[in-house]
Amino acid sequence: MDAKINFTVNGKKVAVTTDPQRSLLEVLREELHLTGTKFGCGEGQCRACTVLVNGTSRPSCITSVGDVDQQEVLTIEGLASGDQLHPVQAAFLAEGAFQCGYCTAGMIMGVVGALKDNPQASAPEVVAQMQGHICRCGSYAKYQTAITRAVTQSGKGGA
Ligand code: FES
Ligand code: FES
Repeated sequence: MDAKINFTVNGKKVAVTTDPQRSLLEVLREELHLTGTKFGCGEGQCRACTVLVNGTSRPSCITSVGDVDQQEVLTIEGLASGDQLHPVQAAFLAEGAFQCGYCTAGMIMGVVGALKDNPQASAPEVVAQMQGHICRCGSYAKYQTAITRAVTQSGKGGA
């Protein structure tokens, strides 16, 4: 049965009437038209769909929208401040850390989440936390360089 789910996305309050068991990913993309968050495996195995829920990175494909009722969701669209990219976005851009880019939004959100969890994390510690993120183009070396840049440049990394 449908229910009204109230939550915050990128700082804006939204209300969606839908099946609470529907995936957050589907609601973000199809109801809220936030298509920066990507559908990869749909099974929690690739992390292309990573968003932050209350500051913690979560695979949105296996997060039901009912679970984010009254919670705060951050997607890649909400990361920059106006024209000012988030330091992690800027680091990925500076390092050209992508090929097709399909996994990139999830990677960036994963790094932001890791740095929120532990603002003092070293680059190798953040890289270790990113083990679940799959890049089908195999751009892992570039991602690691970008993570090192993000950690060293932002100091704290935080969003
Ligand atoms: S699409 Fe969500 S983990 Fe792969
Ligand atoms: S850049 Fe293509 S999947 Fe990662």
